[in-house]
Amino acid sequence: MPLKEEIKAVKRNFLTDLKDLDLDQSSIETLKNKYFGRKGKIALLFLEISSVDPAERPNIGKDLNRLKSDLFARFNDKVTSNIKDDKSNYYKDLDVSLPGIKPKVGSQHVLEKTLSEIKGIFKSIGFHVRYGPEVDDDYHNFTALNIPEHHPARDMQDTFFVSEDIVLRTHTSNVQIHLMELENPPLKYIIPGRVFRNEAVSYKSYCLFHQVEGIYINRKVSFSELKGCIEYFIKQMFGPEKRMRFRPSYFPFTEPSAEVDIWDDDRKQWLEILGCGMVDPNVLKNVGYDKNSWKGYAFGMGVERIAMLKYRINDIRLFYSSDIRFMKQFK
Ligand code: PHE
Repeated sequence: MPLKEEIKAVKRNFLTDLKDLDLDQSSIETLKNKYFGRKGKIALLFLEISSVDPAERPNIGKDLNRLKSDLFARFNDKVTSNIKDDKSNYYKDLDVSLPGIKPKVGSQHVLEKTLSEIKGIFKSIGFHVRYGPEVDDDYHNFTALNIPEHHPARDMQDTFFVSEDIVLRTHTSNVQIHLMELENPPLKYIIPGRVFRNEAVSYKSYCLFHQVEGIYINRKVSFSELKGCIEYFIKQMFGPEKRMRFRPSYFPFTEPSAEVDIWDDDRKQWLEILGCGMVDPNVLKNVGYDKNSWKGYAFGMGVERIAMLKYRINDIRLFYSSDIRFMKQFK
């Protein structure tokens, strides 16, 4: 075919290809290479100039250059017109009166919130906050607290053992001992922290939970001061109307001892939230305090139970579920 005819054919093919072109990036690239690439159809036509009669060459050269710029202009038109279309669609759908997208903001976990309320109340009546070890030896978790060797609290069923002598603390009372070993009386501390118990899991018991321990040692400390302190705390935490009761109880490290229950309006029953009592003279002796000069009271409360009553949560396991729908409710 003479070169002139070939030029016409290339143009015709190009125009059909252009018309059928899908305007996605890869089809555009393919078409561009097919005609304008280094080995594209137009480049091939230029190579053929050498076989044309020398007198004809300037004319054919001009035709080829015109073809190239013409086709390239059409190609550009089509591709850029598509981009313009896109933009106008984009702006058509844009409604500047719509409210913006709010960034997601996290919030305090309900346990952390309860804990800081508890801390706030005790700080306001002169307690300082301290922390102690979650993994401790048998001596601080049991023996120094006057818990005899064969006491049921040491039973394999309740305690997670790390080794024969090392345990995950079963209560925060271990820190009573650490603080009294470190400091001379008087002292007045609360100790929040995690505790661990190898018990049956239910709506009100979990293998891990939080306690806030309290310890107050001074020359004169009475059981009625202890009652006043606990009552003040409960009224602050739950409001003056909340029903509570002290119930005589037993702990090896306090004498006398009591437990405090709070009325659960949903379940219509009492729920135990803390244990307390006057520090047993044996404990004072174990930390090297003179039991004739010093007295004290101590208490330990369950943070989850308090949060459950205050925020009407019906299952302790929810605290540890990481369910965002649960956590969101306490913002
Ligand atoms: N440690 C006790 C418990 O875990 C609570 C308690 C603390 C009782 C301090 C009396 C004094 O049940």
